[in-house]
Amino acid sequence: MSSEVLKPQTQNKKSYARSHAFLERSLKSIPLGSQTFSKSHIQLPEGCSPLYLERGYGSRVVDIDGNEFVDLLMALAPILLGYCDPDVDQAIKNQLEKGISFSMPTTLETELAERMIEMIPCAQAVRFGKNGSDATSAGIRLARAFTKRDKIIACGYHGWHDWYIGSTSRHLGVPQTTRDLTISIPYNNLDVLHQAFKDHPGEIAAMIMEPMNAEKPHDGYLQSVKEIVHQNGAVLIFDEVVTGFRHANGGAQELFGVTPDLAAFGKAMANGMPLSAITGRADIMALMTDIFFSGTFGGEALSLAASIAVVDKLRREPVVETIWEKGRSFQSKVNALIEKYELGAIFKMKGQPCFGVMAITPPEHVRLEAIRTVMLQKLIEHDFLTLGIFIMNYAFTPEDEAVAVHAFDKTFEHIAQELAYKPEEFEKRMDIKPIEPVFQVRKS
Ligand SMILES: Cc1ncc(COP(=O)(O)O)c(C=O)c1O
Repeated sequence: MSSEVLKPQTQNKKSYARSHAFLERSLKSIPLGSQTFSKSHIQLPEGCSPLYLERGYGSRVVDIDGNEFVDLLMALAPILLGYCDPDVDQAIKNQLEKGISFSMPTTLETELAERMIEMIPCAQAVRFGKNGSDATSAGIRLARAFTKRDKIIACGYHGWHDWYIGSTSRHLGVPQTTRDLTISIPYNNLDVLHQAFKDHPGEIAAMIMEPMNAEKPHDGYLQSVKEIVHQNGAVLIFDEVVTGFRHANGGAQELFGVTPDLAAFGKAMANGMPLSAITGRADIMALMTDIFFSGTFGGEALSLAASIAVVDKLRREPVVETIWEKGRSFQSKVNALIEKYELGAIFKMKGQPCFGVMAITPPEHVRLEAIRTVMLQKLIEHDFLTLGIFIMNYAFTPEDEAVAVHAFDKTFEHIAQELAYKPEEFEKRMDIKPIEPVFQVRKS
């Protein structure tokens, strides 16, 4: 192979001058320069990625240097219908003319709660928060109040609050006594679940889990989890912050036909407006009047109006079917490219069509972080913004698909060439540093 072919491709180099200058300014006033780890410069390919976005429309975003990208990150999953969906934007504008926050509830809270009760299998009562973490933490407090027990089994990622993040490697600042109360277990493993209950008899208040993420549930897994949790007198909470309003109108519980006791929603429920919800069995939710779950902004009206517009659109139009169909088409083309470049041992598209995850098994002598970073670098170079997850949206067009698929074609071509050359030199030949993970929860 000629060394000519192996030179870094430069023809698609974009300028990120304004992004870089702004980062420098931003870091003087904002630690990390971002409110979210996964949106921060430390999680993006250094020097060759946009750092600040200015606007979005449909499935596209434009950065502050004027570069345009097809985006399947979708703001980390709140965007379901596409950026600037006309129905949601109109609902927000209509409400804006009346007001944003009030000294008493608006009727919007009940109107949205009633719609959720009709749409989500476990929903008998609903309370609203802002972030997904509000909703998962409310579920944990309810379960502890209901069972009068303290310990929690967690499976997946559930937000930034002490009770959960203390169980991960990013536990700095969380007291040991709190950390001791949460047991993290792997997905699709009933033996470990049995063992956790055996090790802590009569102590577990709840099992909280993402009903699915990168891995699909084994046959009967979710039903068995429910049975084991109930046999042990605990509460089953589905964290549907990602799967809700996306995998099915009623979330993963509808898709897989297993109804939990409680469920937390967030992300896509208001197409980008900040809103989350905890919902579930009326007898457990009734404890909301005894525990403390209360915030100034839970009833903020723009987000509730936006969410009502989302639910109405979900019920009026085939949103879920369409994002699954678009996801299937996109993923099958990416899979064909994996085959074309004979990279099947390294790259595997997991998850569901509506939310794909690129699982990477690095070949010998190459670190996962190196392969992943080069993948992101090349995809971004070719106008496709992703962190290795592919969150489908209703506005995604065939032209968007063509851009994203072309980006994968160029990316896989480059990686195949580099690996065919000398795998042990793959990382040395990179022109940027590999991105190190903040912490790992979603092992695939
Ligand atoms: C499954 C799941 N649960 C909970 C959360 C926390 O949501 P938020 O970041 O809105 O607090 C997230 C966020 O990524 C999530 O993916």
